[in-house]
Amino acid sequence: MASQGQVIFWSLTMVIIVLAAVIALIIGFGVSGKRSISVTALTSPGNIGQSGLLGCTFEPDIRMGSIAIRWAKAGVAGLVHEFRGGKDHLQEQDVEFQGRTAVFAEQVMGGNASLELRDVKLSDAGTYRCSVTTSRGSGVAELQYQTGAFSTPNVQVENSSSGDTLQCEAPRWFPRPTVHWTAYSHTGKCLPRAANTSYELNAENITLKVVSLLHNITANATYTCVIENSIAKATGDIKVTDFSITRGTNLQLVNLNAESASSSLPACHWMLLLPACLLSL
Ligand SMILES: *[C@@H]1O[C@H](CO)[C@@H](O)[C@H](O)[C@H]1NC(C)=O
Ligand SMILES: *[C@@H]1O[C@H](CO)[C@@H](O)[C@H](O)[C@H]1NC(C)=O
Ligand SMILES: *[C@@H]1O[C@H](CO)[C@@H](O)[C@H](O)[C@H]1NC(C)=O
Ligand SMILES: *[C@@H]1O[C@H](CO)[C@@H](O)[C@H](O)[C@H]1NC(C)=O
Ligand SMILES: *[C@@H]1O[C@H](CO)[C@@H](O)[C@H](O)[C@H]1NC(C)=O
Ligand SMILES: *[C@@H]1O[C@H](CO)[C@@H](O)[C@H](O)[C@H]1NC(C)=O
Repeated sequence: MASQGQVIFWSLTMVIIVLAAVIALIIGFGVSGKRSISVTALTSPGNIGQSGLLGCTFEPDIRMGSIAIRWAKAGVAGLVHEFRGGKDHLQEQDVEFQGRTAVFAEQVMGGNASLELRDVKLSDAGTYRCSVTTSRGSGVAELQYQTGAFSTPNVQVENSSSGDTLQCEAPRWFPRPTVHWTAYSHTGKCLPRAANTSYELNAENITLKVVSLLHNITANATYTCVIENSIAKATGDIKVTDFSITRGTNLQLVNLNAESASSSLPACHWMLLLPACLLSL
């Protein structure tokens, strides 16, 4: 009786060992029968009309001939881009992407499968899949691509009869952003503000020109115009020094719009910190 129990015990053990081996094979070699490699995708929103980057990296492989990169988009029949054996293969490329895509061929061996997408369109938004095969195996990563329009604002003192007004203007935004101002006196006191923001449709019928006017500004204060939508946040700063003597015509302005501003104010300098701004949204 004891020996029969032992037989059952060893049979069960064998079954468990075989199952574990099968599971290990599936995990290690993938369903396709090849080993899997790690592939990672990352991107930032595309700006309509400009070039965008859909980032994708994989474990490097020095055998260029064995590397195949395929980019596909959910809901699109053809491929976005295909690169293998050191060359583009665009026979299966969807017409939507013709003439607008490229991989960085000289960086592929280093594990860079990123795709450059030129003349970004609003309709380019969606789910993209980066599939990479090398001599070590294959892997896939997905990313969500967002599109819209964003631009840095220019802040200046308006030439108007009423004077004492700041104008913040940014040429291209989409979706329609919100605009708000922050104002701090040189002593750090938060000042009251009353802004008037208007949006004007640009000629291509998608993006908006944003103009915001801030009235009743005071001397020795720093003003920040903050423009923000679901994909980007941009700020423009201006420091107004004493103009009570000069009454508007000879204003001394320290325009902190440029790169030098990024360290002096808690504002996000979008060119450098766009990803950080996006994370904080
Ligand atoms: C891939 O290469 C391009 C071109 O040099 C570069 O802009 C991009 O940042 C690289 N992408 C990654 C994920 O390293
Ligand atoms: C404002 O007006 C002055 C003189 O009227 C002129 O010199 C200056 O260029 C104007 N600035 C802007 C931004 O229009
Ligand atoms: C905004 O503009 C409108 C129309 O030009 C005006 O009636 C209103 O007083 C303005 N508001 C502020 C806060 O300047
Ligand atoms: C923009 O829209 C307007 C009205 O909807 C239309 O008349 C015009 O032709 C459009 N322009 C472009 C460039 O699509
Ligand atoms: C500007 O300030 C004056 C006096 O403080 C006030 O009467 C006026 O309504 C203010 N104008 C705006 C547009 O806020
Ligand atoms: C602005 O600051 C200067 C010196 O920093 C001072 O002379 C001037 O009175 C100040 N003006 C106002 C309106 O506070």
